Amino acid sequence: MQEELKTERLLLRPLCERDADRIAALANNWNVARMLSRMPYPYTLDMAHEWIGKQKALREGGEEFGYAVTDGEGFVGGCGIQAHADGTHEIGYWIGEPYWNRGYATEAARAVLADGVARFGAETIVSGHYWENHASGRVLTKLGFRYTGEEYRWCAARQEKVRCLTMRLARLDN
Ligand SMILES: CC(C)(COP(=O)(O)OP(=O)(O)OC[C@H]1O[C@@H](n2cnc3c(N)ncnc32)[C@H](O)[C@@H]1OP(=O)(O)O)[C@@H](O)C(=O)NCCC(=O)NCCS
Repeated sequence: MQEELKTERLLLRPLCERDADRIAALANNWNVARMLSRMPYPYTLDMAHEWIGKQKALREGGEEFGYAVTDGEGFVGGCGIQAHADGTHEIGYWIGEPYWNRGYATEAARAVLADGVARFGAETIVSGHYWENHASGRVLTKLGFRYTGEEYRWCAARQEKVRCLTMRLARLDN
């Protein structure tokens, strides 16, 4: 994966220590955490430092490539691609609530996907969203993902399994 990805409005770069305050501020939001499988809630500054601290090893091990999504004013969210044991790769993202509905998630995920597709092959990219997360369903559909099924996935914030609609990238055409 490339170190930095540039889009029309965004720069995606590796997370770094100076992102910790912004991550903690934007991630400590029930509307964000409840839609993600691994993000705890409440979310503390220590958790942000721990997450940032893991990134280098995850990258070097080829397990996960996580990017800070930044606009002209700084950190606005995260986007990444994770390798699964079955050979598929999964894309994930979150955007801080003040920045929703500007097209940022779609723009960031499109860049991570294009880079990942070149590296891994389009047929291997999967994703999914909790059943009530219509905005994420829209993002993935816009990117060319199609529904493949459903399963119950653990949600750290809710501390329970939640119905999740699974998707696979059919094509990267828009
Ligand atoms: C889901 C999320 C990433 C979307 O980020 P975003 O930057 O607002 O996304 P975009 O602006 O690129 O696209 C959002 C799309 O959803 C649509 N949308 C927003 N709220 C919606 C809702 N309640 N129902 C249906 N569609 C909705 C928008 O209109 C837009 O579609 P459009 O371009 O066709 O108009 C953001 O809401 C978020 O971070 N949520 C919490 C974490 C999360 O859900 N992560 C994904 C886990 S699968």
